[in-house]
Amino acid sequence: MTTASDVLDRVLVLEMVRVTEAAAIAASTLVGRGDEKAADAAAVEAMRAALNSLYMDGTVVIGEGERDEAPMLFIGEKVGSAPGKGPKIDIALDPLEGTTITAKAGPNALAVLAISEEGNLLNAPDVYMDKIAVGPGYPEGVIDLDKSPTENVEAIAAAKGVKPSEIIACVLDRPRHEALIAELRAIGCGVMLIGDGDVAGVIATTNPETTIDVYMGSGGAPEGVLACAALRCVGGQFKGRLLFRNDDERGRARKWGITDLDKQYDLSELVKGDAIFAATGVTDGSLLAGVKRRGDRMTTNSVVMRASSGTVRWVKGEHRIG
Ligand code: FBP
Repeated sequence: MTTASDVLDRVLVLEMVRVTEAAAIAASTLVGRGDEKAADAAAVEAMRAALNSLYMDGTVVIGEGERDEAPMLFIGEKVGSAPGKGPKIDIALDPLEGTTITAKAGPNALAVLAISEEGNLLNAPDVYMDKIAVGPGYPEGVIDLDKSPTENVEAIAAAKGVKPSEIIACVLDRPRHEALIAELRAIGCGVMLIGDGDVAGVIATTNPETTIDVYMGSGGAPEGVLACAALRCVGGQFKGRLLFRNDDERGRARKWGITDLDKQYDLSELVKGDAIFAATGVTDGSLLAGVKRRGDRMTTNSVVMRASSGTVRWVKGEHRIG
């Protein structure tokens, strides 16, 4: 019998790219059109159709929202062409990570997907998550959400053999991060503010060319799990803690089996075992170039990575339109 592991290995790695490519191409037709919802809906529809063509018994564990708020790719939705027969796969997805970016034609919008064997992705509710991440090469435990931003930057700087003033942190530009940004600047740390897109922000810590040493601050919990799937493949450390604004959000977490609401999660608890991460650029960004249309052809740029082998494949696609 074909196991989920065999399928992850041989078939789905490249099939995943077709899924994110489909979502990115669909969203690309709405780049800069000022309509976040339409761009997201196009990406969702295309990703769903592509997922449903894959031979698997897939379940969306991180998706567009709860069933009552998301008509497609809702949490718990079954996808794949072989329900009850094919390998059981858990799926975390964000067909359009950066809806506002896309509407405004800004940088770093991505179509993103991560898969694992059943039970290996934290079923993160759609709440905020406090996050801190660094790329590979640091001693284990260099980052800790129980420490202050200053202590974390000092630890990263010491491990890197530089002064805290030589560290660059990436932070979402939000009023809620005012105190964090002020503290980082007070110790001379450079702060690179991004308007949206913290999946790309976290992954940027793994690429020296971005000059980003650490990602800090709160963003979506689903995006946290997706970014962790990428870090599991290329290395790096990540800590996350769910943040709840009200009892409804706490209730959602309990519904998904989370009992310790204050827990600091390590990367290895957010994404366990083997996993595959795939992304296709919608707009140009630090990880991937966006979709380009030339005449009757479209070019896509994607990456697909696998945790168990550490293989990273960069895939350039040329697609005929129509
Ligand atoms: P969307 O694509 O769903 O708009 O998410 C964009 C994003 O910037 C994420 O990358 C990030 O995790 C989240 O929004 C932050 O949320 P908020 O905009 O509420 O601060």
